[in-house]
Amino acid sequence: FVVSRLLTHVGKLPPMVQQLGYINRGLKVTVVGSVGGIGQPLSLLLKLNPDVSTLSLYDIKNTTGVGVDLSHINTRATVCPFEGKDGLKKAMDKADIVVIPAGLPRKPGMKREDLVDVNASVACEVAFAASAVCPGAMLAFITNPINVIVPIVATILKAKGTYDPNRLFGVTSLDVVRAQTFVANILNSDPLKVNIPVIGGHTGRTILPILSQCDPPFKGTDEERQALIQRVQNAGTEVVNAKDGLGSATLSMAFAAARFVNSLIKGIKGSEDECVVECAYVESDVTEAQFFATPLKLGPQGIEENKGLPDLDDEEQKSLECMLPILMESIEKGIKLGEGMM
Ligand code: NAI
Repeated sequence: FVVSRLLTHVGKLPPMVQQLGYINRGLKVTVVGSVGGIGQPLSLLLKLNPDVSTLSLYDIKNTTGVGVDLSHINTRATVCPFEGKDGLKKAMDKADIVVIPAGLPRKPGMKREDLVDVNASVACEVAFAASAVCPGAMLAFITNPINVIVPIVATILKAKGTYDPNRLFGVTSLDVVRAQTFVANILNSDPLKVNIPVIGGHTGRTILPILSQCDPPFKGTDEERQALIQRVQNAGTEVVNAKDGLGSATLSMAFAAARFVNSLIKGIKGSEDECVVECAYVESDVTEAQFFATPLKLGPQGIEENKGLPDLDDEEQKSLECMLPILMESIEKGIKLGEGMM
């Protein structure tokens, strides 16, 4: 068992044996920013996953209380809280998955881009720690602005020699969850049965729900389609305004992130009969933008297959062309910031 555990970390065993190893020992999942508005409900949802054997919590302070509270829930995961300067590396040590809802959220009137100065340094700390103590982990960043944060982290990991583009994700699953919900509300159908890809990035016009590929089909007028697309694009601001100074989406984000992490876990376990597909913002060659969200098939090594651009109608094609310069500017900014942090 010990040998199997050691070898699964260095990826020396054939995939099937690796998967057996994961199933036996369970997975270590670390939540960085676990005391925050997203971090607490996300940690709760991950505590419910029977494949998680260690739920490691990190925040700059007050992690112990959240940890003790969660530890009384009678599910498999052992809860290990860490805080303070030395805590980050201990919390992330040999993690299989690290999910990061750490950093400042928006207040009314703020754009996601306004968060970059503060949140870039949080992402940078996590990238350095990942390189040092869990270079093979899947990293799922929730911290905004996603469009800039992911290129920053990729640049740092590359410089450290620990970058695997199949294991670094910007979590955009809330955009998909919202699109599913809003479409289902209009069609009066079950949101869990709505399938709709959301591509691009995670701010304003870079969020592009592909209504032409919606299943069940969405056949609204042009105005109805535009209104729905704009609602998905502005849904984060809808929550920020409704919370009136008390932060941004936390509960829906925790749900969406838990769904994403649970999908990463299914992928790691490599279930043959289940095709795990999620949209996320990753390094990509499907458009001119170096990072781009599309549907991804997940497997034992992270991204198994980038499913690429869905078929687009003329309007969606135009929206894609409009968003690319915006996205590429954010990516360039992220790469420069990342280089400046080395
Ligand atoms: P919050 O302020 O409630 O919680 C953030 C937590 O991060 C706090 O507990 C804080 O102590 C911790 N933190 C700050 N610096 C840290 C560091 N260096 N290391 C570890 N922990 C640190 O904020 P909330 O609402 O939970 O949002 C967190 C982030 O998620 C924000 O950047 C927000 O914009 C983003 N977000 C992303 C979404 C997405 O779709 N990707 C949707 C909603 C929010």
